[in-house]
Amino acid sequence: MTKTIRKAVFPVAGLGTRFLPATKAIPKEMLTVVDRPVIQYIVDEAKEAGIEHFIFVTGRNKQVIEDHFDMAYELEDTLRGRNKTAELELLKSFLPAAGTTSFTRQQAPLGLGHAVWCAREIIGDEPFAVLLPDMIMKSETGCLAQMMEVYRETGGNIIAVEEVDPSVTHQYGIVGVGERRGNAFGITRMVEKPPQGTAPSNYIISGRYILQPEIFDHLSRHEKGAGGEIQLTDAMIRLMGEQSFWATRFDGVTYDTGTKIGFLAANVAYGLARKELSEEFRTVIKGLVG
Ligand code: UTP
Repeated sequence: MTKTIRKAVFPVAGLGTRFLPATKAIPKEMLTVVDRPVIQYIVDEAKEAGIEHFIFVTGRNKQVIEDHFDMAYELEDTLRGRNKTAELELLKSFLPAAGTTSFTRQQAPLGLGHAVWCAREIIGDEPFAVLLPDMIMKSETGCLAQMMEVYRETGGNIIAVEEVDPSVTHQYGIVGVGERRGNAFGITRMVEKPPQGTAPSNYIISGRYILQPEIFDHLSRHEKGAGGEIQLTDAMIRLMGEQSFWATRFDGVTYDTGTKIGFLAANVAYGLARKELSEEFRTVIKGLVG
């Protein structure tokens, strides 16, 4: 019997330097794709996968994320007074139930591994999910829900992976894949940003994880890795010596909204996918690209 995954961590404490000046005063997770902030897509994906407790690891200047997932009393009162029932319903539809969110601070941006470690007291002794809040993963069934299916079969630790052109593997965390079981592969190796031509495969780690709580033993060493940051991949490599790791090949498209191109592409893809916008938007885009 595998233990149910009830909690998810959203590490939102990064500085978003690749998106300056937009991210000087606004967290990158609050940049909008069509009409909602990026973080809302990620929380919705977690909800769809059955997550019950949403843990945000925040930093300075990130309070607005907390406000987004709270009731906006004055706004709702004004909408009620103006009989704007559709808008009121929309606001209610994504409000997490009372007591199902937690916010903790990463006091300095020491790396993704350190951010996840900051959630250890809230997670306790149970397996949990991590969702990188700048990667929007668009698919019929959400990425985390796809991983949950695999997890129920395999247990252990699960990482979502996807294939890229071999010429760009040096920019990513890469896994080596072995035994196949249904939709999953056993992971034989993991390497962060391998020098060109040395990658064990072209499967990249794409921003969704299901991890066992023993990962915190390794994260608590606070060892610095690539870029002088405490890396989640390094702790996972250590945990691989003790527990099984499986890769789920993500069936969908990923948009890295932490980059300008990924962000623009996400807006086009989600704009075109919205019934009420698609026809007009298509005409606008056709006009723009000639
Ligand atoms: P990134 O490296 O993509 O985000 O980290 P960043 O540091 O915000 O962006 P750039 O490189 O400066 O443009 C992946 C995720 O991990 C979080 C980030 O918020 C992002 O969602 N993160 C990263 C933390 O929460 N804390 C950290 O110390 C580092």
